Amino acid sequence: MKTENTVWHQQQINKVQRANIKKQRPCLLWYTGLSGSGKSTVANAVDALLFERQCHTYLLDGDNVRHGLNGDLSFSDQDRIENIRRISEVSKLFVDAGLIVSTAFISPFASDRKMAREKLATGEFLEVYIDTPISVCEQRDPKGLYKKARAGEIKDFTGIDSDYDIPSAPEIHIKTAELTIVECAQQIVQFLEDNHYISTGS
Ligand code: ADX
Repeated sequence: MKTENTVWHQQQINKVQRANIKKQRPCLLWYTGLSGSGKSTVANAVDALLFERQCHTYLLDGDNVRHGLNGDLSFSDQDRIENIRRISEVSKLFVDAGLIVSTAFISPFASDRKMAREKLATGEFLEVYIDTPISVCEQRDPKGLYKKARAGEIKDFTGIDSDYDIPSAPEIHIKTAELTIVECAQQIVQFLEDNHYISTGS
């Protein structure tokens, strides 16, 4: 618990200095979308393209983080909120380290995404809406989870018996059902280039 005796210690090397030696503008690509929408797939493809350009990145993925840091959390509304709170704090640290960070979490509640956005400086939080109709997600069903949810074997499943708030003004809007994975990734990298997070063709 933070008390009045918990005092912030100013560090000697700051975010701008760390970013400058990496020759990039740190930011957080916050992927949001239904289970099976393609968040992790597209985020991985973007990460690979950025790596090719020698950008310094880090990818936090919902399923993986739930194996460790957030392994104690369920899919109740309360635990999803705590999941996103922890991720936004970790992401903020990684952005402070000068990295281009990607997070791939369903993050179904607009209020939580807003809370994450508000932790970061202006221009650092980039909401990436991975827009895939639930019918397509259900058809893909890569982990067989929709089938289980429809059979009542998983409760609180997003899009079935748990809500998903559609982003109203995402910085980047990707319609995966109409594009290839590479095209989706290129659209995101182009945004980063156009908005000077990374240098042209670097
Ligand atoms: S979030 O809602 O708290 O942001 P998160 O992205 O961490 O979710 O985890 C979602 C992943 O957990 C899904 O891709 C799916 O593989 C798995 N999962 C297991 N149970 C559920 C559930 N009830 N609802 C949604 N996803 C679930």
